[in-house]
Amino acid sequence: MTSLAVVPGDGIGPEVTREALRVLETIAPAYDLTFTTTEYDLGARRYHASGETLPDAVLEEIRGHDAILLGAVGDPSVPSGVLERGLLLRLRFELDHYVNLRPSKLFTGVPSPLRDPGEIDFVVVREGTEGPYVGNGGALRVGTPHEIATEVSVNTAFGVERVVRDAFARAAARPRKKLTLVHKNNVLVHAGHLWSRTVDRVAQEFPDIAVDYLHVDAATIFLATDPARFDVVVTDNLFGDIITDLAAAITGGIGLAASGNVNPDHTAPSMFEPVHGSAPDIAGQSKADPTAAILSTVLLLDHLGHADAAHDVQQAAEADIAERGSAPRRTEEVGEAIAARVAEGV
Ligand code: NAI
Ligand code: MG
Repeated sequence: MTSLAVVPGDGIGPEVTREALRVLETIAPAYDLTFTTTEYDLGARRYHASGETLPDAVLEEIRGHDAILLGAVGDPSVPSGVLERGLLLRLRFELDHYVNLRPSKLFTGVPSPLRDPGEIDFVVVREGTEGPYVGNGGALRVGTPHEIATEVSVNTAFGVERVVRDAFARAAARPRKKLTLVHKNNVLVHAGHLWSRTVDRVAQEFPDIAVDYLHVDAATIFLATDPARFDVVVTDNLFGDIITDLAAAITGGIGLAASGNVNPDHTAPSMFEPVHGSAPDIAGQSKADPTAAILSTVLLLDHLGHADAAHDVQQAAEADIAERGSAPRRTEEVGEAIAARVAEGV
């Protein structure tokens, strides 16, 4: 029995999460899996009703589950940063999601905005618990001409090594066996050198992995001109956030990009979510593409050790993508179509 904490969240979050759960329910019997779900009302509605983002008691309840499925949080009515820091980042930090996994694949049938994209199939392993996102900073004299604002990037030898090791292990399990470190070690010399030294040291234990290095600015060039050069990319929290939006864009858009906030040591539940946000502009209209949410369940199944089930869902989603054409479909039509393929074992 697998217990899932489900946080549908705001905007299109509940719409796409419903379809992800539909697909999980469909795959379950084929592999003797049973999913029990507990839904948590977190996000903008909760915040407006009670001022709460993530109460301690709720966090502890969520911690008791095997995994978390999240839709999206955020609403124009909530000040920027409140839900992102108070809910999303808090979950990532408290549950030690130090690997933020973001695969990028150009699926058959999906037009890329690149004229000659080549074969795109890489995964970004983004550090998830350190960097400039830890909230190590502050502001003084706010709103005056003498305002001071700091946002210090925190990089620990422990934190860098564990994510680098995870990235090498993932590279070792992939056919191309290539790892690219993305940083900016010519300018951010303190953090950058810690990252470079760590990669060099761990690389000695993985002699069959080809190791490459790119400054983050150069990485954006190659993501646009030669994305096929990437296999596994390891990078810090901020750089990873930015380059994965570009990665989503070159592989056909935000409706297809899945992600996992992974605790590889299984000391707390990992959290799986589409990369996109709550899309208030299309919320409530059944226009959202649930594919990214459905592909996030592939990462969830894989993390929980159900590689065969994960493979089936991936195949079903890819088959749907290949044949979907350009006529608009409602959110539930896409979910039903992928679930039907899962049921047929396609
Ligand atoms: P967004 O990803 O919500 O939307 C950007 C554009 O992509 C919009 O035009 C939207 O309609 C479209 N889009 C997004 N997902 C789609 C889907 N599945 N199918 C079809 N079209 C889709 O990003 P935006 O507008 O910057 O943020 C909206 C809210 O979401 C904000 O409050 C933001 O803070 C929050 N957000 C939350 C995230 C999360 O929960 N992990 C991640 C990113 C943003
Ligand atoms: Mg982002």
